Amino acid sequence: MTERGPPIPADAAADAVERRVSERLAPAPEFLARVAEVRAELVTRVEAEARARSSPLVRALVAGSAARGTFLADRLDVDLFLLFPPDLPRDRLREEGLALGRAVLSSPETRYAEHPYLRGEFGGFRVDAVPGFAVSDPSRPLSPVDRTPFHQEYLATRETPDLVAQVRLAKQFFRALGVYGSEARTEGFSGYLTELLVLRFGSLRGLLAAARSWRLPVRLVEPGREPPRLPADVALILADPVDPHRNVASALSRRNLALVILAASAYLGNPAERWFEPRPRPPFPRARALARLEERASHVAVVALPRPDLVDDTLFPQVRKAERAVAEEVARADFEVLGSASAVASDRVLVLVEVAHARRSAVRSQDGPPPGLDRVGHFLGKWTGPDAPVLQGPYVRPDGNLAVETRRTDRELEAVVRSILPRLALGKDLTPPDLARVEVHALAGAPESPALEEALGELLGKRLPWLDGP
Ligand code: UTP
Ligand code: MN
Repeated sequence: MTERGPPIPADAAADAVERRVSERLAPAPEFLARVAEVRAELVTRVEAEARARSSPLVRALVAGSAARGTFLADRLDVDLFLLFPPDLPRDRLREEGLALGRAVLSSPETRYAEHPYLRGEFGGFRVDAVPGFAVSDPSRPLSPVDRTPFHQEYLATRETPDLVAQVRLAKQFFRALGVYGSEARTEGFSGYLTELLVLRFGSLRGLLAAARSWRLPVRLVEPGREPPRLPADVALILADPVDPHRNVASALSRRNLALVILAASAYLGNPAERWFEPRPRPPFPRARALARLEERASHVAVVALPRPDLVDDTLFPQVRKAERAVAEEVARADFEVLGSASAVASDRVLVLVEVAHARRSAVRSQDGPPPGLDRVGHFLGKWTGPDAPVLQGPYVRPDGNLAVETRRTDRELEAVVRSILPRLALGKDLTPPDLARVEVHALAGAPESPALEEALGELLGKRLPWLDGP
């Protein structure tokens, strides 16, 4: 299937880099053997437990990267799927699945993604036990995880040991760029998407050689065979081989794919091991940010909202929405918005907005009606009264409409943000019952915290991550 990408030029330097990184990422044979043993034990234990409690379980299987050897050893999770009959009511699925998981895993903890599951431990490994339905057609899933056994079969029958090594390499490349993981927080490449891409292009290098000339949105489907209901901002379209209606890359953001396209070309031009080493963003302390603002002659306000008790996959989309709402409303209030950022702490959600000037103009220009309409009388009456806060006018603009310039009372960004809070579309869970619990500070007066540093890095530290460094 590699013929679908452009030819890959020979490159001894890249060969050497990738061979060294691959060797580092390869799990030791004893470790792989241990994973295989735990996999088998898990399934045996679950099936025995299911018989003992007359559970309606159809079968248990380990899927995901632990089943294929495509995991990165330092973030291995074993994905255990517990499949039940399709006609089992959903609340029973949940109960039966969680009960079986609890019986087999130690220190179990219930979690919710779009779907309930249980995280616990078995044989020294972290295990996610996920209940699903044993459907016979993966294009008609009853729960979001029902395609998984089919993914497992699709990949397991196609992946050679070489491809498995290339998948680990690709995952590590994405991870170093900060674009690995399909959670809402990351909006990056899922493990399954990464495996399909490596399979399609034959290797990480094959993938990057193709990616460097991609243009957004990228279509890896034959024309006319696109999955339906693609959002307008879709980044990459790749139909799930087990369910052509589903876009495997639906979680991937345009920003992250664009970053990969640029990185592909930079890596191929200058392959080095540091491309595979995650570099955490250095902290961006408030003092440094204030110095940067001095240089930029700009101003930043920090909005702190109480953090609702939500799982990350629900919280992060709302936080991004709140950030957009703040930036848009501030712009609508006649500030020149330079940027925005957000970060989540254990108790708070921070939204930052940077504007060119801390105070907006005192003069507000207001449109009036075109002469000839009845409303003209009202407009003139309103703005010629003795107490009208008029700075200039009413007058006629060159376009023939009436206008008036009035004096603003609120000019400081923080005061304006406070006054627009009630009409901000913050998302249903982010709007606190009492708006007085929302704090708005100028950056200089905002309490320091790791979340603030993170948001400041995002706001003021924007730079392609590979430009600096050894
Ligand atoms: P994982 O997210 O654990 O991916 O989902 P992975 O392939 O094991 O990769 P890493 O190494 O842990 O990052 C496990 C499996 O669940 C299915 C996929 O088949 C995936 O391989 N899955 C996951 C879905 O079908 N839909 C999802 O939204 C997430
Ligand atoms: Mn996994």
